[in-house]
Amino acid sequence: MVFRLKPLDLDSIHEHIYDRYTLLESLADGLSQDLGIHQRDDVIQLDIEPPITTKTRGKRKAQKKLQPYNFTIKQSIAGLNSSSNNNSTTGYVLWSTTPIFAQWLLYDSNALPLREETANTNIPAVFSGSKSTAVVELGSGIAGILPIVLGDHVDHYLCTDQKGILNKLKYNIEENLLQFNNRYCVSDFLHLDISNHDQQRKTTRLEVMELDWEKFNNTTSQAPLTRISQECSIVYIVAMDVIYNDFLIDPFLKTLNQLRNSYLNDGLTTHCLIGLHLRAQDIVETFLEKAILEYNLPICSVEDPYLERTRVSLYYI
Ligand SMILES: C[S@@+](CC[C@H](N)C(=O)[O-])C[C@H]1O[C@@H](n2cnc3c(N)ncnc32)[C@H](O)[C@@H]1O
Repeated sequence: MVFRLKPLDLDSIHEHIYDRYTLLESLADGLSQDLGIHQRDDVIQLDIEPPITTKTRGKRKAQKKLQPYNFTIKQSIAGLNSSSNNNSTTGYVLWSTTPIFAQWLLYDSNALPLREETANTNIPAVFSGSKSTAVVELGSGIAGILPIVLGDHVDHYLCTDQKGILNKLKYNIEENLLQFNNRYCVSDFLHLDISNHDQQRKTTRLEVMELDWEKFNNTTSQAPLTRISQECSIVYIVAMDVIYNDFLIDPFLKTLNQLRNSYLNDGLTTHCLIGLHLRAQDIVETFLEKAILEYNLPICSVEDPYLERTRVSLYYI
C-alpha cells in the first residue's frame, strides 16, 4: 500500500478537519500534548533511522533500506524566548514535524513513490532518479535535518529562512555534513567546491539563502532560485511546521504561490509538501480555506496510517 492523496475543496475541508481532530482526540493518551518543540535542551541528539519491524518466519529482521542518520544539533532555548525585531524566533529550535516527516519519507514503505520513480503513480519522486530534482525548503529553522537527509538524495537543496536563523543553520549543517555520504556536497554558502570530488559520487548543490515571506516578491534576482530553474526538471517546495498563527498564513501562501507559479512557468514539474503540526483547529481551517479559495491551489491531504498516528497533517500540492 502507498499513501493516498485526498483532494480537498471548500466542502470537504470541514469533514477532513473534523475527522483528523477526532482521530487526534482518540489518540490523546499516547501523544505528547506540548507545543511541538522536539526537545528543550541547547544540544540535542537525534537519530533518523530505519525501523526494525519486519518479522520473517518468527525472526525480526532489519529492513534493508536507506542508511541511518545521527545528528547532533545545537539550538537556542534562550533565542526562542527572546524578542527579535519583529522576526520570528521559533526557528531557533527544532520542531517535531520535521523528524516525523523525515522518518516517514525516508523509511516508510508507504512513502516509496516519493523516493523512487514508480510506474503506477503520477507522483514524481523527490529523490533524483532519471530526472534532475531540487528541493526548496521554506522556514528551514536552525536544525539542518532535511538539507542533510533529503539533500543527500537530490541534485539541488535550497534552505531558506529569515536572516537571523541562517548562521546557526549553517553551523548545524557543517557539524553534521559527514552524514552526507550518498552524494558529494558543493556549496557557495558553505564554501565547498568541487576540487576534491571523487567522480564516483553524484553531487548535490546545497545552498542557504534569506527568504522572508513578508518581503518576497520575485524570484528572478535570486541566483539559487533561478539556478534550480536552469538545472532541474522537478522541484519540490517543502515547508514543515510554518503555519502556527493567523498572520503568517497570507505571507506564506503568497510566497508559496509565487514560487510555484514561477517554476511552473519555467516548465518545471512543481509540487509542494507542507507539514502542519496540529494545534489550533481554526488556524488549519483558515490555512486550507485560503489556499483553496484565494490562491486556487490544488491541495490534497496525504492520507497515511503512520502520519495519522502523529500530530502531523501533511498536504500535497
Ligand atoms: C515552528 S518553526 C519550524 C522550523 C523548522 N521547519 C522545523 O520544523 O524545525 C517556523 C519557521 O518559520 C520561519 N518563519 C517565520 N516567519 C517567517 C517569515 N516571515 N519568512 C520566512 N520564514 C519565516 C521561522 O524562522 C521558523 O524557522
